[in-house]
Amino acid sequence: MARLAISGGRPVRVEEFPSWPVWDESELEAAHGVITSGRWGMSNGDKVLALQEQFAAYQDAAFGIAATSGTTAIRAALLAAGLAAGTEVIVPPYTFVASATAVLEANMVPVFADIDPDTYTLDPACVERVITGRTGAVMPVHIAGLPCDMDAIGAIAKKHALTVVEDACQAWGSEYRGRKVGAIGQLGTFSFQSSKHITAGEGGMIVTDDEELAARCSGMVNCGRVEGGAWHEHHLLGGNYRLSEIQAAVILAQLARYGSMLERRQQSAAYLRQELADIDGIEPLAVPDYVSASSCHLFIFRYHPDSFGGLPKNKFVKALNAEGIRPAHGGYFTPAYRQPVLLEKNTGPFDQITRHEFQGKLIDYADFHCPVAERATASEAVWLLQNLLLSDHRGLEQIVEAVRKISLNFSELLD
Ligand SMILES: Cc1ncc(COP(=O)(O)O)c(C=O)c1O
Repeated sequence: MARLAISGGRPVRVEEFPSWPVWDESELEAAHGVITSGRWGMSNGDKVLALQEQFAAYQDAAFGIAATSGTTAIRAALLAAGLAAGTEVIVPPYTFVASATAVLEANMVPVFADIDPDTYTLDPACVERVITGRTGAVMPVHIAGLPCDMDAIGAIAKKHALTVVEDACQAWGSEYRGRKVGAIGQLGTFSFQSSKHITAGEGGMIVTDDEELAARCSGMVNCGRVEGGAWHEHHLLGGNYRLSEIQAAVILAQLARYGSMLERRQQSAAYLRQELADIDGIEPLAVPDYVSASSCHLFIFRYHPDSFGGLPKNKFVKALNAEGIRPAHGGYFTPAYRQPVLLEKNTGPFDQITRHEFQGKLIDYADFHCPVAERATASEAVWLLQNLLLSDHRGLEQIVEAVRKISLNFSELLD
């Protein structure tokens, strides 16, 4: 008789996990307050300014510059860094596509370096291998909230005079050796999109310790205006990437409760890491000593099909979902360099990659081969989404129970 829910057995869990976003009267009051004040934009409101200050302080940074999204924050940060058109920016392939497409939108060229097999973060040794005379920046992505090896990346950046732009879009509150991420490099970027731990549906932030860079970032997101200039005076080629006051007020309310939710996710992740590691063929990502805190945006574990009779990852995930463990999925299904936008060079007028020479020939993203990222996307990485980590203890036990159940009964699913 079938035991697994996907083959007709009883699911481990029938009730839903906690939903996301979490909100209460404080978000309602915050939005209501701005709406009734009539000050909906930052030209006459004070919420964006307050958020910039509070978020930067929270991330151990001197300056915060709000933007409409993580994507626009990355683009503005790259432009503010003063890098020339065609500059190569080294990014990992295991990330949301915006880490690379924001580079294209800044008229620069993404170049990919593989990830570390144990942490899925940018592998410094792989970064070294793709540096050329045109490399101008490196973008450590703190994927799932796990900080990258910032000492090693910083040393490479120093040696080759590269700007470090951290993609911390998943890493609010993550710490590297006791310091919050974002302004460890010259610039760092965050997202407040709807799946993120702190959200207003959309939104973003740049942080930096450098006053001059902060001023340039402000201009980039605010129509090229400069501090002290008149409203209709525009010095830089900046767009309107301003956050609204309503969004800023909601994000401030989210930030106020963030500490306790972060702690909860961290405790849940620690439990899952310990319990899932005991199951044959399941290996949670490693947390190196330099990580003093992770935001635990995603709980990623490595699934080794060999221990499951060769059962493909997608079938394992479907079985997990059928046991009531949702949302859980296989995450990015391809390394970023295999996205059609790059392979087909569908970049419109941002066409640097149609004529850019990399390592002696016209750049062709089909030539990139990052075996660790390819394995992670195709057959290995399984994601438990962040709201599962907000579950009570019984929910966490059920996650472990469901994975163990599949590991004991996977033969039901083999052809
Ligand atoms: C690693 C990473 N970089 C960049 C982004 C882009 O952020 P946004 O969706 O706010 O533009 C995201 C968000 O999905 C992300 O996870």
